[in-house]
Amino acid sequence: MTVYLVGAGPGTADLLTMRAARLLATADVVIFDRLVGDEITDMIAPWAQRFDVGKDPNGRSVSQVAINDLLVTCGQLDQTVVRLKGGDPYVFGRGGEEAIALQAHGIDVEVVPGISSAIAGPASAGIPVTHRGVAPGFTVLTGFQASAAKARIDWDAAAKLGTTLVILMGAASATTIRHSLLAGGAPPDTPVAVVSYATTERQTVTRIELEDLGSAPIVNPAVIVVGPAASLDLARFRSSERDSAAPILSPIGPKDTTA
Ligand SMILES: C[S@@+](CC[C@H](N)C(=O)[O-])C[C@H]1O[C@@H](n2cnc3c(N)ncnc32)[C@H](O)[C@@H]1O
Repeated sequence: MTVYLVGAGPGTADLLTMRAARLLATADVVIFDRLVGDEITDMIAPWAQRFDVGKDPNGRSVSQVAINDLLVTCGQLDQTVVRLKGGDPYVFGRGGEEAIALQAHGIDVEVVPGISSAIAGPASAGIPVTHRGVAPGFTVLTGFQASAAKARIDWDAAAKLGTTLVILMGAASATTIRHSLLAGGAPPDTPVAVVSYATTERQTVTRIELEDLGSAPIVNPAVIVVGPAASLDLARFRSSERDSAAPILSPIGPKDTTA
């Protein structure tokens, strides 16, 4: 008995991994959540049982306990079960909790990594999260923390890291994030990019400075990118705009299949 914890990527179907697509086409049961769009759920085999645990028929979300119970029940069947989650299952996806719940019931878990919005969000806005001389690393943080959270973020430390900060689930607390980073010593003019619906047709990118973060509502889902790299916009390059037609590297030609 194996349950596949599968990352669906940031939204658009052609950013699914090939393994994820193969599992969707063959699974008997697929349990998916809110950030997985129709383009991807349409790839589920027609005979498969589908569970949308993002919301119930009344528009309420399903509790994590109920999801874990459903996973365990399905995982005990002699069927291929896919738990499909937005982005990567282990980046703020509660995939770890689901894996622990399954393993506690003797059910094997196989993880299929997905492209996280933490990477795809900045990249689709033309922001390299690391960049020589600009950003020596990147730090992925949640902007949402339950007041009882055991591991709390030290925003003072985050403000001083010198890495690009990539903040998920921060739309509702953007003002608090701004205050926390400014209090930690981040310059008010630190570049910020807000990328909503990254990689999808609805993608928008808003570039502001830290002192303005939270002054306008942010469309969810959104990734907030903070740091000098956020001022870069390398998505706009078009080869037709290049000065020289000379290739940077010579092609090595097609693979020889005659041998
Ligand atoms: C519960 S977390 C899940 C993250 C997911 N596991 C991942 O790796 O991308 C949900 C948050 O991910 C971010 N997110 C997910 N998909 C996004 C997208 N297409 N564009 C922008 N942000 C996205 C938002 O910050 C959203 O609030």
